[in-house]
Amino acid sequence: MNRREFFNQMASVWDKRFYSPELIGRLDEIVASFRLSRGNCVLDIGCGTGVLTPSLLIAVGQLGVIHAVDFAGEMVKRARKKFENNQNVHFILGSVETLPFDDGSFDHVICFGAFPHFDSKKKALKEMHPVLKTGGNLFIAHALSSAQIKAHHKASSPVANDVLPEELEMREMMTTTGFWGVSIIDKDRCYICKGKNRQNRKNRGALVMDFTEKARIRLENWITHNDHHQEEYELFAEQLEEAGKNESSEHVREMIELTVNSTECLRNAFKALE
Ligand SMILES: C[S@@+](CC[C@H](N)C(=O)[O-])C[C@H]1O[C@@H](n2cnc3c(N)ncnc32)[C@H](O)[C@@H]1O
Repeated sequence: MNRREFFNQMASVWDKRFYSPELIGRLDEIVASFRLSRGNCVLDIGCGTGVLTPSLLIAVGQLGVIHAVDFAGEMVKRARKKFENNQNVHFILGSVETLPFDDGSFDHVICFGAFPHFDSKKKALKEMHPVLKTGGNLFIAHALSSAQIKAHHKASSPVANDVLPEELEMREMMTTTGFWGVSIIDKDRCYICKGKNRQNRKNRGALVMDFTEKARIRLENWITHNDHHQEEYELFAEQLEEAGKNESSEHVREMIELTVNSTECLRNAFKALE
């Protein structure tokens, strides 16, 4: 059985099997973290039965529009039925590998719970990037961490090997596709990889970058990386203190200072490129 057949077969039981009231309750929170604005036009790729749709509709308000794409006909059929009276959402049968939209069509693109299942992740990113407006974000999100997703998929053979790329590979893929300011949160019951379309390309040809542009991307990535580590170190230091391990915590706090200094150096290096 291939993936599409698998998802078609799962469509009738999807909501009941995978969405507990607790998880549904968390969807608004996940969508709120995307900071969508009222009136936004948003693309939801791999939308399934439209589980995220109610939260997206709330976030974009009456003037906003959601376009939702999925390659499994049964999923799309169910989603259309659920929202047949809503003019603000359009469900489209299609693949992420050939998106039927003009460049710069969307304020933001969301890919919730679907990215690990894409055959060619690089191709998917290359399709998602140009349909974003300049300044628009792509959010690859899950209600699980990458490790939890791996364990969750293991149970179903057609998707058993569908995993998220390791952090560095993901950053590299995003950056080389043209996304800027890539950040990744990967923690218990939450994965969000975000990247910005800084400047839309007029055509979909190869991105030509000069050395300075590449240096900026590299420095931006390292700064984001450092910020992320700093947050983790701070949390860990607090945990050590709570456990009464103050001496150990002091060493972690020394590391936090070093990280703050190294971020400062990276920021200076970034500024000096201008
Ligand atoms: C795990 S489900 C998630 C569905 C929904 N976003 C949710 O969270 O309930 C992954 C979805 O991605 C869709 N999908 C997988 N590969 C796709 C592709 N190449 N293009 C479009 N949709 C795809 C599947 O049909 C499936 O509905």
